[in-house]
Amino acid sequence: MKLNIVILAAGEGKRMYSSLPKVLHQVGGVSMLEHVVNAARSLNPEAIHVVHGNGGDRVKNTLKHLRVRWVRQKQQLGTGHAVLQAIPHITDNSRVLILYGDVPLISKELLQILVKGTPNDQFGLIVANLDDPSGFGRIIRDQNDNVIAIVEQKDANQKQLKISEINTGILLAPAKQLKGYLSKLSNHNKQGEYYLTDVIDIAVADGYRVKGITAIKPEEILGANDKYQLALLECYYQQQAAKQLMLQGLTLIDPRRFDIRGKLEFGKNVVIDVNVVIKGKVKLGNNVQILPNCVIEDAVIEDNCIIGPFARIRPGTRVKCNAHIGNFVELKNTEFGMNSRANHLTYLGDATVGKDVNIGAGTITCNYDGVNKYRTIIDDKAFIGSDTMLVAPVKVGKNSTIGAGSTITQDTPANQLTIARNKQVAIKGWRRPKKKSRKK
Ligand code: UD1
Ligand code: CA
Repeated sequence: MKLNIVILAAGEGKRMYSSLPKVLHQVGGVSMLEHVVNAARSLNPEAIHVVHGNGGDRVKNTLKHLRVRWVRQKQQLGTGHAVLQAIPHITDNSRVLILYGDVPLISKELLQILVKGTPNDQFGLIVANLDDPSGFGRIIRDQNDNVIAIVEQKDANQKQLKISEINTGILLAPAKQLKGYLSKLSNHNKQGEYYLTDVIDIAVADGYRVKGITAIKPEEILGANDKYQLALLECYYQQQAAKQLMLQGLTLIDPRRFDIRGKLEFGKNVVIDVNVVIKGKVKLGNNVQILPNCVIEDAVIEDNCIIGPFARIRPGTRVKCNAHIGNFVELKNTEFGMNSRANHLTYLGDATVGKDVNIGAGTITCNYDGVNKYRTIIDDKAFIGSDTMLVAPVKVGKNSTIGAGSTITQDTPANQLTIARNKQVAIKGWRRPKKKSRKK
């Protein structure tokens, strides 16, 4: 039977106190909604319907690349009402899985257990046992342990509030029955909302069984309603990501002090020291060492390179084999050649650096004139003296040497020394000024 997935993402997220719609807040550098769409996609559904509303078209416009069907919920009248907006686009002979845009770490494994473990014509619900169930809907079971209803916290009596088994909200249902039940919902409850959860007791009254599947790892089913909860999910995500990478052979000196906000590919014998942030798509070759406190974003580091400590490698950079990038060195959109070195305090932006080049401390490519950016080309075996300004566009010839403290505005010839700095003068007979004696 075909599967349609509905992701609820229309809520405002008041408790974030943010102008950014809630589902656009990120975990591991990816919006919460995109995480959920990725998990949904892994089930090969017929379609993914995202119910959006709050924040106008901002969610839709930001996540245009997701290839989902966007459904507008003009007013947020409750989770049942939200699902109802997607229903006209769903065929009767399919199943519907409901996910939440603010529950980002739901795993494909758990969803597969739900989909495989629920018969096509029954209802399946992911539940969890929490030490602190407050805020969640509680699961009501009969004497035979069958799920018969869900009671929202705000509508629950004292006895029901003591139940620690909660509704995660993740529900699988046959489309035809779900359609019928959604149209029967009322909003006669404490919140005046059309609750999706009321579908459960209607289904049970209609003779259907509801299978409760228990989530073992609570982080997978927890939502982020405020920034603290978001940070807790981030911690969990980072722990899991670090563990995955280490099980694939990456050495992290301390997995708790490593952050990944994107995708990392790496070769053999790669070591990453503490406080390193990986962003976007990063590729590290064999034997690469990343020393403490580096940020690497959308870049390729080839075999045997040493990066850091305190280096910043920005998008569009490729550091070729055996190169060294040292402390307080920033590279942006730069190709840095084999065996070359930039060991201290340097900015190379929009540059092409050849093989066996030595870049002295304090070298800066002046690549921006306030309007446009220009390239700097440094040919093989060049030696750039410390504190050199390379005013782009400019080319440093092969094997050329630049004297320390030069401001280079014209191309420099190969095999020669170029110096562009004021001549040093010494003034004979000059005396240091003396302090005037103060009269009383
Ligand atoms: C809901 C469940 C509760 C469950 C909890 C799990 C209901 C009535 N209650 O409660 O049993 O324990 O989730 O986290 O379903 N949304 C819309 N449109 C709306 C209302 C909500 O898209 O009109 C979206 C929200 O953006 C959010 C999700 O649905 O992503 C859940 O809504 P929320 O109001 O947070 O539900 P809870 O009160 O937490
Ligand atoms: Ca609510």
